Amino acid sequence: MTPCQPVRIAASMLSSDFARLGEAVVAIERAGADRVHWDVMDGQFVPNLTIGPDVIAAARACSTLGFEAHLMVGDPERMLARWVEAGCEWITVHAEACRHLHRTLGQIAELGAHPGIALNPATAPSTVEHVIGLVDLVLVMTVNPGFSGQTYLAGMEAKIEVISAMVEKAGRPIEVEVDGGISTGTIRPAFAAGARTFVSGSALWQHERGIGAAITEMKSMCGGEE
Ligand code: DX5
Ligand code: ZN
Repeated sequence: MTPCQPVRIAASMLSSDFARLGEAVVAIERAGADRVHWDVMDGQFVPNLTIGPDVIAAARACSTLGFEAHLMVGDPERMLARWVEAGCEWITVHAEACRHLHRTLGQIAELGAHPGIALNPATAPSTVEHVIGLVDLVLVMTVNPGFSGQTYLAGMEAKIEVISAMVEKAGRPIEVEVDGGISTGTIRPAFAAGARTFVSGSALWQHERGIGAAITEMKSMCGGEE
């Protein structure tokens, strides 16, 4: 577990109005989100296509929040520098998408960004073991990547627990992040399992009282930590 880490909400832009992306980024900062989560998909690694670095770069001036690129793309090492140049401080690659995961994580650090490793639901937590010294973030997917609005996979909580224990042993601050189906109804067990950074998309954008209310409610479900 990582008790000294704050609870953070990373707002996924995937459920926002793409016709008003700049305004959407402004809105999530005003609403109290801690980070902007960009879901990058290539139509190969996942069956969907989204945004590229030029779009993220265009939104960079709209917010002072940290930007994180969640790269759901094959061979992400081919264009790592582009995401850093676009203004992303966090770059998360999928373990399943990297031929040379160890090298790729090192390259992200060399570029001056925080390296993150993401695990699909079917991927064992032991995948992280030999690269834990290279990462600042471990992202446990609680849906199969590709789309927002999917059902949270509660079975991933056991994996979150294993990763949290690994992170604690590492003895330095590494974020345990979860992504997929996070809402006021699911955040508490993910928190109890050890997650501290929560990506949320549809539950934020579709909350009947707005994004700010959704964030406040989610954080209060985790004991009101800031
Ligand atoms: C799924 C993405 C998630 C997702 C979050 O591939 O990585 O970030 O869009 O959306 P919700 O919260 O709706 O599951
Ligand atoms: Zn994501």
